[in-house]
Amino acid sequence: MKRSYAYLLVAAGIVAAISGVAIAQQAATPAATAPAATAPAADAATPAAVTPAAAFDIKSVEAMPVGVERGKAIAAGLCAACHMADGNSAVPLQPKLAGQHPAYLEKQLMDFITVSPQAKKENPDERVRDNAIMKGQVALLSADPKQYANDVKSLAMWFASQKLVPETSKGVNPTLGMGIYRGGIPSKGVPACAGCHSPTGAGIPNKYPRVSGQFADYAEVQLKAFREDQRKNSPANQMQDIAKKLTDTEIKAVADYMAGVR
Ligand code: HEC
Ligand code: HEC
Repeated sequence: MKRSYAYLLVAAGIVAAISGVAIAQQAATPAATAPAATAPAADAATPAAVTPAAAFDIKSVEAMPVGVERGKAIAAGLCAACHMADGNSAVPLQPKLAGQHPAYLEKQLMDFITVSPQAKKENPDERVRDNAIMKGQVALLSADPKQYANDVKSLAMWFASQKLVPETSKGVNPTLGMGIYRGGIPSKGVPACAGCHSPTGAGIPNKYPRVSGQFADYAEVQLKAFREDQRKNSPANQMQDIAKKLTDTEIKAVADYMAGVR
């Protein structure tokens, strides 16, 4: 048992090293479809392995102007492993970014790096949107604030320009889900989601994100995070206040409805 496990680790290390090399070779001419998609499995087995993130040097894009080409290069080098190079993630807890409003994407990428004004002594590094995984990822973007802003503008432009491959509803509780989405829950003071996210789920640029076609599991996690004050970055606490009034059953139903709403 032990020996075959060790062998697996070595094999995974080799795979990771090879994909790392492949990425390094690609850095000069970034491809839309990075082989980074194979990385997470290797990461899980060998935390110390060479990851695509380590192989990509953000300095390689510093001279590029703000725009989709710069965004595409960074996405292929750093984001593809989880969100895919075109932002059509295949993993439910790694949100789809394709076709999202650029101002919303940009805001999230600023919120992941900005230390919260409400950070307490216990967690002085708490971010405006405090997520351990994305905290690690934004640390790989440019350290210089001006260059960082250029990175996130470019990434937002790139992912926003990509065509969303949408999720569909699994029919969890369509009557409840649609009812909440379109009409809210008047007895509890829950407003209609459609009022801000639009009847089709397309959102309203620049303030309200698209929710149509997103993974239901991701939406559920976000709604619970808003409810438990783990995600606190909605302006004027709008989403926190709404989510606090929702039960688990209501969250599941509306999250599933949003995946399919068009
Ligand atoms: C190791 C996996 C991983 C990598 C690599 C990664 N992300 Fe993420 N990303 C996540 C996860 C997980 C979340 C959901 C966080 C949460 O639950 O709040 C997320 C969330 C986001 C969001 C918020 C989306 C929304 O709808 O609110 C944005 C924007 C984002 N990532 C951009 C990026 C960019 C740009 C890169 C590359 C520089 C990147 N991510 C690299 C895992 C990753
Ligand atoms: C008053 C306007 C408003 C209403 C009504 C509203 N939302 Fe939102 N919602 C927002 C804003 C603003 C954000 C983005 C917050 C931020 O900047 O991170 C958001 C974000 C979200 C997100 C996270 C999206 C992502 O990609 O991470 C989900 C999920 C969501 N809303 C679901 C709902 C549901 C379900 C309802 C109805 C029960 C609803 N919203 C009603 C304003 C609203």
